[in-house]
Amino acid sequence: MKIETRAIHAGRRIDPATGAVTPPIHLSTTFERSPSGEYPLGFSYSREDNPNRRALEQCLAEVEGGTQALVFSSGLAVAAALVQGLEPGDHILAPEDVYWGLRKVIGEVFGKWGLATTYGDMTDLAALRAAVQENTRLIWVETPSNPLMKITDLAAVAALAREAAPKAITVCDGTFATPVLQRPLDCGIDMVCHSTTKYISGHSDVVGGVLIRRHDNYLFERARRAQHYGGAVPSPFDCWLSLRGIDTLPYRVRAHSENALRVARYLQGHKSVERVHYPGLEDHPGHAIAARQMEAFGGMLSFQVRGGRDEAMGVAARCRLFIRATSLGGAHSLIEHRASVEGPQTKTPQNLLRVSVGLEHPDDLIADLEQALQQLAPQYLAAG
Ligand SMILES: Cc1ncc(COP(=O)(O)O)c(C=O)c1O
Repeated sequence: MKIETRAIHAGRRIDPATGAVTPPIHLSTTFERSPSGEYPLGFSYSREDNPNRRALEQCLAEVEGGTQALVFSSGLAVAAALVQGLEPGDHILAPEDVYWGLRKVIGEVFGKWGLATTYGDMTDLAALRAAVQENTRLIWVETPSNPLMKITDLAAVAALAREAAPKAITVCDGTFATPVLQRPLDCGIDMVCHSTTKYISGHSDVVGGVLIRRHDNYLFERARRAQHYGGAVPSPFDCWLSLRGIDTLPYRVRAHSENALRVARYLQGHKSVERVHYPGLEDHPGHAIAARQMEAFGGMLSFQVRGGRDEAMGVAARCRLFIRATSLGGAHSLIEHRASVEGPQTKTPQNLLRVSVGLEHPDDLIADLEQALQQLAPQYLAAG
């Protein structure tokens, strides 16, 4: 079945008690045993499993093309469960521009775990190969990356890992692309994770995360234990909201992608814009790989205005339709000065703004950027 159909039907069934088409929310924390002490319907206690969570996990596994999924209370709870599954002394390879929260998980939450981590450029396969160590157990990729929208060749990384680091598990954070645009498991990657907070839930009203496996592996099983006994589980209502969001995921993601391409082309031609980072633009260094590995190029982009931090902040301040807020993947368009969020150690250029292109009409979005950019100081307007 095609993804549009799986997005609506996978994990769902007509409620046998009422005939309800939309699933009920099961708030019960506990489930009845039979007189013989069994749990005939398979549920005992809601931290370990509950009907809404099971439906969401089945749906996400099918939509991603994996064999099983585990949902967590946030995207970072997935990362924490995976890192926690490593042994002290293990080595992690991760992208230098990885979502900054992963660095916090590795360095600050598991700082005492004795893990070694190399942050490198995942688009440079020779450097990646050279960074592999005998104790490398986790190879983390994120594509498109945040906020420079770098593209990693997933099939090449999976092949390299099989050959050079056979004991390592490869994990792709596919949050920006979603299963609609990119299928890392089909490229040979072992597991995919998403912050379901973003496109998957899609309405900026629930925080969550998912881990999906292609095949049985020990890190997935350890993550399952972390989910059951570590307790970072989503509530039944969170699961219900996410599942409701998935109904429209394929159509939303295509509309986000169309809007983003329009906005990116507009920005590319603007004299106050120094550079646009969007894999759908032909001059993006990862364009050829993205065109091969993605169905469309997604709703995220970033751009550098002429000038520095003040000019970038000024553009964001003048926006009327784009909302100055973090996160991504919802219906509203958002704009963010990323270096401010990432703090003093950031390598993100100070003149860069990251945009989550929403589902408004692209003409209105472009008009908003036009009025915000027109008021840049005259020396920058002249520079183009
Ligand atoms: C690419 C990526 N991965 C993971 C996360 C973390 O997800 P959450 O905020 O749901 O914990 C984020 C959050 O912004 C993200 O952008």
